[in-house]
Amino acid sequence: MNLLKNQIAQQVGALLGADSGLSHEDILKLIEYPPEPKMGDLSVACFRFSKILRKSPVAIAEDFKSRICIDGVARTEAVNGYLNFFVSDSYRMSLLDGINAAGDDYGKNDIGSGKTVCIDYSSPNIAKEFHIGHLGTTVIGNSLKRIHAFSGYKCVGINYLGDWGTQFGRLIVAYKTWADKEKIERDGVEELGRIYKEFYERAEKDPSLNDRAREEFNKMEQGDPESLRLWQWFREISLQKFMETYKLLGIDFDSYDGEGFFHDKAQEVVDELKEKNLLEESDGAMLVRLDDYNMPPCLILKNDGSSLYTTRDIAAAIYRKKTYNFDKCLYVTDAGQSLHFAQFFKVIGLMGYDWEDELVHIPYGKISVNGAKLASRTGNVVLLSDLFNDAIERVKAIMDEKNPDLENRDEIARKVGLGAVIFNQLSSGRIKDVNFVWEDALNFDGNTGPYAQYTYARSCSVLEKAGKAPDCDISDYEMNPVERELVAVLSKFPEKVASALDDYEPSAVTRYILDLCQSFNRFYHDCPIMKASDREKAARIKMCRAVRYTLGNALWLIGLEKTEKI
Ligand code: ARG
Repeated sequence: MNLLKNQIAQQVGALLGADSGLSHEDILKLIEYPPEPKMGDLSVACFRFSKILRKSPVAIAEDFKSRICIDGVARTEAVNGYLNFFVSDSYRMSLLDGINAAGDDYGKNDIGSGKTVCIDYSSPNIAKEFHIGHLGTTVIGNSLKRIHAFSGYKCVGINYLGDWGTQFGRLIVAYKTWADKEKIERDGVEELGRIYKEFYERAEKDPSLNDRAREEFNKMEQGDPESLRLWQWFREISLQKFMETYKLLGIDFDSYDGEGFFHDKAQEVVDELKEKNLLEESDGAMLVRLDDYNMPPCLILKNDGSSLYTTRDIAAAIYRKKTYNFDKCLYVTDAGQSLHFAQFFKVIGLMGYDWEDELVHIPYGKISVNGAKLASRTGNVVLLSDLFNDAIERVKAIMDEKNPDLENRDEIARKVGLGAVIFNQLSSGRIKDVNFVWEDALNFDGNTGPYAQYTYARSCSVLEKAGKAPDCDISDYEMNPVERELVAVLSKFPEKVASALDDYEPSAVTRYILDLCQSFNRFYHDCPIMKASDREKAARIKMCRAVRYTLGNALWLIGLEKTEKI
C-alpha cells in the first residue's frame, strides 16, 4: 500500500499547491487505514486543508474526489470531510504478485543502507548467573539487530560482558579462602555461583571480607599477573556456559569485548577529562558535575583510584566510534540503568564529541515468573538456560499428547519452546513489565509463539496439499471480503517493519504477526482451496504463498524459528 499512499500524497500535494506549508511527509501522515472496509482501504482526512484552501473539509473532499485519479483505485468516495479510496481487486492481485516475487525479501527497506549500527545487548555479568533478568536484553537486542539488518544497516552485535568489577575481587577472596579448585574445574559456573553466594553469607558475619575483596580487585586493576590469571580463568568458565545458551538460541555476536577489555583504557578517559577541565575532586573521588543538566554527578574514579562501570562505558563508546564509525550505537538494558546512560552520554557530549546524539539507550521493563519478582541476593533466581530448557520439555509433553507421531520431535520442540519464551517477552511494548506464566506462554490457541508457529506450519501444509496451481488467468479475480482483508493485512507489513525500526519496538512486529495469523486463520476456515473452482484455487494458492513468506519474514525478525510441521 506504500506505493498507493505515495501517489495519493503526491496528487493531494499538487492540489494543495507548493506554498501549502505541508510537506510530502506531512500529507503521508494524514493518510489512514480506515477502521472498517466500508470506509475504503485508504482514507485522507481533509480537515487540515481547510485553512489552506479556505473551504470546508466536506467541500474539499468533494472537490478532490473528481480530481484525484490513481491506478489501482477502483472508486473514491467523499464522506464527511474524508476522502476514501477503494482499491481494485486487480491491484490487490498485483500486490500478491509483488509479495511472492520478493519472497524472503518482502518487507525490507533501505533506510539504513550505507550506515552502521552497533547494538550492545545481552551483556551478562560473568561470575554471576545468566538469569532471566537478561532475557529482555537478549531477545529485544537480537530482534533489533535483525530489524536493522532487514532495513539495510550494517550491524555490529556487541556482547559487552560484565567481566570486570568488585565481584571478581569477591570471587578471588572466596577462591583463596575456602573454595575447592577441583570442584570449580568439575562444576564450572555453578560452583562459581555457589562460592559467590557463600561470600555474601560469610561477609555478613565478617565484614572484613569486603575490604579484602576490594583489595583483590584493586590488584586486578593494577595488573597483578596472578590476579589476572584467576580473572581470566573465571571468565572462561562462565563464558563457556553462556555460549551454550547462545547456541541454543542461534545468537552470535561480532564482539565479546566486555568491561575487562576496557579497564586499562579507563585511564585515558580520566586523562582526557582532566585535560578538558571536566573533572572535579570530591572526598578523594573524581567526578563530572552535571548540575546544569539536572542530573547527579557522574562518578569517574572511586577514592581508592579504581575505575567504575561508567568510566569503562565512556572508554568503550569512544573505542567503538573509532573502530566501527557507527551511525548509531544502541544499548539495550533494563530501565533501571537509564540514569547511568543519560549521564555518560552527556559526559561524551561535554568532552566535545559531536556524536552524543548517536548513542541511544533502549530500556525495557522488569520480568517476573508466575508473579514472583527476581531477587538475586536471596538466590531466588531463574536461570535463562533453565527457563528455556523447561519450555522445551513442556512443549515436548504437549506434543506427545497432541501429535505423538511427529517426526523430528526434539528439534521442533526446541523451536517452539524457545519461541514461546521469546514471543511472550516481545508481546507488549518493551517498557512494560513482563510476567511469565507458563500456561499463557504455551497456549497454542492464545496470542503466543506456539500459535504463530502453528499458523506458519498451517500455511505450509495447505500449500503442500494444494499442489500446483491451476494454470489460468486470474488477474481479474474478484475477491470476497475475507480475501480482501487478508491482502490488506499482508500489504501493511513493510510499514510495520519501518515503525518497529523507528521506535526500536519489536512488539510492532509481534502484534502484526497476531493480526496476520488471525486474518489467515479466518481465510483458512472460510475459503476452501481443494473444493474450489480453478480460478479460486489459483488465487488462494497465491494468497497462501504470500502469507507463508510474510509470516516467515516476520517470525525471523523477532527471532523465532520456523517449522513446517508441528
Ligand atoms: N552487564 C550489564 C548488566 O548486566 C549490562 C551492560 C550493558 N551495556 C553497557 N555498555 N553498559 O547490567
